[in-house]
Amino acid sequence: MTTKKMLVLPGDGIGPAIVAQALKVCRALRDRDGLCLDYEEGLIGGAAIDATGDPLPEATLSAARAADVVLLGAVGGPKWEPLDISVRPERGLLRIRAGLELFANLRPAILYPQLAAASTLKPEVVAGLDIMIVRELTGGIYFGEPRGVRRLASGERQGYNTEVYSEGEIRRVAHTAFELALKRSRRLCSIDKANVLECTELWRNVVEEVGCEYPQVALSHMYVDNCAMQLVRAPKQFDVIVTNNMFGDILSDLASMLTGSIGMLPSASLDEQGKGMYEPIHGSAPDIAGRDLANPIATVLSLAMALRYTLNEPGLAARVEQAVGRVLDQGLRTADIMSDGMRKLGTEAMGDAIVAAL
Ligand code: IPM
Ligand code: MG
Repeated sequence: MTTKKMLVLPGDGIGPAIVAQALKVCRALRDRDGLCLDYEEGLIGGAAIDATGDPLPEATLSAARAADVVLLGAVGGPKWEPLDISVRPERGLLRIRAGLELFANLRPAILYPQLAAASTLKPEVVAGLDIMIVRELTGGIYFGEPRGVRRLASGERQGYNTEVYSEGEIRRVAHTAFELALKRSRRLCSIDKANVLECTELWRNVVEEVGCEYPQVALSHMYVDNCAMQLVRAPKQFDVIVTNNMFGDILSDLASMLTGSIGMLPSASLDEQGKGMYEPIHGSAPDIAGRDLANPIATVLSLAMALRYTLNEPGLAARVEQAVGRVLDQGLRTADIMSDGMRKLGTEAMGDAIVAAL
């Protein structure tokens, strides 16, 4: 078997600590299960700004292109907030997504049965929850031009951004979503604001057209405001959701809380060939950085997604996911998912527990 290469980008805040736990799992799979994976670390975000002045140094982008897979922690923090928005850590993340053409962002929201009590919703509303949100990741208002803040003739400042999607951009992410729906329960709900925004009316029409190629999939459409309400009211009505970059950002945070904690949810960002970058959906949590409090499970599960979707090791992916389940069965919890009668662990100890359960 040829050895694959992984670029590891720990980033900022809790990023280095959570990524370190995923690497423990990686080493265990290498030593005990013959996983052929080498990794090297690179700089992104605030860490890269401090070292090079650029949130995405050219060396990082070329290392990412040369690697088979990228594992990312998180970027950003108060230290870099005074910088201009165009050079902040977050811009490094957006640039690597665009640079690698990672247009399809898969964000599963799965409730581990052991955590039903950790959700703020009633257990019967969330029990068995298993949603897949497919977020378009390289277009829309995040990247649209023109953008900026200008001075009007009146002297008043005006901020502006542009929501823009070409047919091709909509079509390719729609295909990803339909293909996923085929492998799941064959239901796909496309989210838009077609009653107000022309761009998302086009979104609806193009998804409808792509749907003609997938007669086996039941396609429905929903306005984003209603979707937000329905996700809280009756989330199990959804299976696969497909939506644009900004709606996907917001709805995936919402969906994560159905599962108890945003600290549990991994993501995969894929290009046309299925090559990808894997990262927890949560941020860098600067408030708890360096305190051994962060939940590393989202990052460990991101590694599992990498094993499944890019490294073609579905068996090892399942083992990692089962190890996480076993740790939860043992009553071990980080602070964010703690409940009565459970044993609280720090980031490091949770990483060790997952390795022990492998
Ligand atoms: C996410 C994050 C990012 C985004 C930020 C950090 C730029 O919120 O991955 O969901 O908005 O895409
Ligand atoms: Mg987000």
